[in-house]
Amino acid sequence: MLTGKNIVLGVTGGIAVYKAVDLVSRLRKLNANVYVVMTEHAKAFVTPLTFQSMSQNYVVHDMFEEPKTWDVEHIALAKRADLFVVAPATANVIGKVCHGIADDFLTTTIMATPAKVVFAPAMNTNMYINPITQGNIESLKTLGYDFIEPGSGRLACGDIGAGKMAEPEDIVNYIVDYFTPKALPMAGVKVLVSAGPTIEKIDPIRFITNRSTGKMGYAIAKKATELGAEVTLVSGPTQLEPPKGVTFVPIETALEMYEAIMRVVEAQDIIIKTAAVADYRPKEVATEKIKKADGELAMAFTRNPDILKSIGERKTHQVLVGFAAETMNVLAYAKRKIEQKHLDFIVANDVSQTGAGFGTDTNIVTIIDKEGNAVDYDQRSKEAVAEIVLEKAMHYHQNK
Ligand code: PMT
Repeated sequence: MLTGKNIVLGVTGGIAVYKAVDLVSRLRKLNANVYVVMTEHAKAFVTPLTFQSMSQNYVVHDMFEEPKTWDVEHIALAKRADLFVVAPATANVIGKVCHGIADDFLTTTIMATPAKVVFAPAMNTNMYINPITQGNIESLKTLGYDFIEPGSGRLACGDIGAGKMAEPEDIVNYIVDYFTPKALPMAGVKVLVSAGPTIEKIDPIRFITNRSTGKMGYAIAKKATELGAEVTLVSGPTQLEPPKGVTFVPIETALEMYEAIMRVVEAQDIIIKTAAVADYRPKEVATEKIKKADGELAMAFTRNPDILKSIGERKTHQVLVGFAAETMNVLAYAKRKIEQKHLDFIVANDVSQTGAGFGTDTNIVTIIDKEGNAVDYDQRSKEAVAEIVLEKAMHYHQNK
């Protein structure tokens, strides 16, 4: 079950050290590689040889002993760890890690590891409930450290209360759960996101475009990827890095966006169109730079395809989500678009409001669905809007 997993076990000085021996034995039975690091105080309870025999690996306990390999030992162990467990964890080690004190092999290795670190506290109940210890635990939790809560009962010192180290079985359950892949909520769902502006060429030097930066669309593409979706991001020119894991399709013009999207529409489950697409393009693109001359310059424009409408006309099973950037009659226009373009819902942003629409890190949106429900969301980050939009899109996808 834990075959190939490298678990570094930090053992600090408390009577619960004997339970750590059992923990190593259980982890070995699940085929984990266990590397034990002991503090000086831990050695007062159990010898390194005990852990060495149980783990079948050399036990590190002295910062300055002659190295066993050419690797810098604490860095090597820190890098090797897939999970770092400190059990038992005394108030002392929790306090030291919380305050960045690295004065022995264990604390230097914890400081150096990129792995998840989890503490199984074990101490006298008054030490455990002491606001200093509790404060340290809370601070470490906010930094991403995990804690396996101690149990309550009669402690070795005779006091009754919280502070008994979690049972080895519970710590093993935590470790197994940690390594069990979690099903992501959008696993297997194919999502197409369009983002950014289009640019429409006038001549080899000039073009017309709009103020979309791509932030809204990229936030949706990133969040959907994190939730396990297979994301295709069709984007006009922006200054943003495509999120890791997306299939990125760069385009420039509305016609290119139309073609790129139509090629992949059929395979999608959810299509979200945040892009600000130019409705018109110059009828003729001059092959040479247009020279200035006296008087006015007139230019004829022709309509670009309405990509969202085209998708709506041919969609079969896809959830279709539009965005609406308006400056007036936001709700009325948004409702009309739902009908005309066969949308499941539309995200309307009044781009005349501060903190909403183009270029901002936040948005203020109203989501209107085809059933006629309209929900206003106050100002929040584009990442938070992305979560709301994806949750609603998933609701429609699951109920198709
Ligand atoms: O990119 P940011 O700086 O983060 O800004 C985000 C945003 C303001 C661009 C975004 O939140 C937004 O509102 N996008 C839609 C902008 C828009 O062009 O709205 P629209 O009302 O013109 O178009 C309505 C819908 O039809 C949109 O989903 C649009 O992608 C789509 N459309 C429009 C024209 C066209 N020819 N084809 C289309 O598919």
